Amino acid sequence: MEMNKKKQKNFVNKDPEITNLASGMEVQGVAKYYGDGPLRRTVIEDCSFTLERGKVTVMIGPSGGGKSTLVRLLAGFEKPSAGHILIDDREVQRAGPDRLVVFQETALYPWMSTEENVLFGPKAQGVAAGTARARVDELLRRVGLAGFRDKYPAQLSGGMKRRAELARALANDPAVMILDEPFRGLDAMTRSLMVEYYAELIEETRTTHLFVTTDVDEAIVLADRILVMSHRPMRLISDIPVDLPRPRHLLDVIANNKASDIKRRVIELIHLEVMRSFGGRTSGMKSTG
Ligand SMILES: Nc1ncnc2c1ncn2[C@@H]1O[C@H](COP(=O)(O)OP(=O)(O)OP(=O)(O)O)[C@@H](O)[C@H]1O
Ligand SMILES: [Mg+2]
Repeated sequence: MEMNKKKQKNFVNKDPEITNLASGMEVQGVAKYYGDGPLRRTVIEDCSFTLERGKVTVMIGPSGGGKSTLVRLLAGFEKPSAGHILIDDREVQRAGPDRLVVFQETALYPWMSTEENVLFGPKAQGVAAGTARARVDELLRRVGLAGFRDKYPAQLSGGMKRRAELARALANDPAVMILDEPFRGLDAMTRSLMVEYYAELIEETRTTHLFVTTDVDEAIVLADRILVMSHRPMRLISDIPVDLPRPRHLLDVIANNKASDIKRRVIELIHLEVMRSFGGRTSGMKSTG
């Protein structure tokens, strides 16, 4: 695999529309197996796609399909069994501050206040105290938690915790932001508020995003592209561009014809996969043993 060492330092992007230090990622023929011999279990099979720099790619697929497994590979927590994962033409070797992952489960430090949690990343990266504090102030204001900066995670509601987590991730200015079902478990009202809120943030930050979800409306509001994934072993079954104007709102997805067409396409594809997974049928699944 040819590595482009020069690109390592070349994070600063000159595109005025993309304000962050966005990077692109490539997933090339990636597979992931667990176990050996007859016990071998294929979770991901021959997966290839690009996360375009400064764009929002949304991955949608049935529960248990392998999305979080792929997230762990992209983050560098685990290695693919086959294929390559590149960030700006360099092979991902391990976890790094250039790729920030917000997982399904909450990860705020319970012993730190909201403000301390958000400050944690910039402090660890050695950002000057004044600069870090200004950034954290701005982020807390943006996520509507300026009045809760001194509260501990246990004193925040579920939605507030998720907002604090987003602020904490954004405070690191990641080159790629990976969000694995960040709004899972929130009630429908809070969830729709969070989606709209996140869509606004995307407008402002324009970093490279991979957003994993099982919710089609959420996908359409946020995505530049939707990757529809199969059930396990997970493959890419469709790559659908979402060229709807921004800013977008959840109501657009209901009212807009083009959005409805995309929604129907995605639901049809996912429905087939969910039927397969529930029926335990073997179509789309291959024996690997
Ligand atoms: N370390 C492991 N060893 C064996 N199997 C594993 C391991 N990690 C994940 N799997 C299997 O991979 C499959 C996919 O799991 P994964 O968590 O990636 O799915 P998901 O698409 O994120 O699901 P959900 O939408 O419910 O979060 C599961 O069947 C799981 O049992
Ligand atoms: Mg998952």
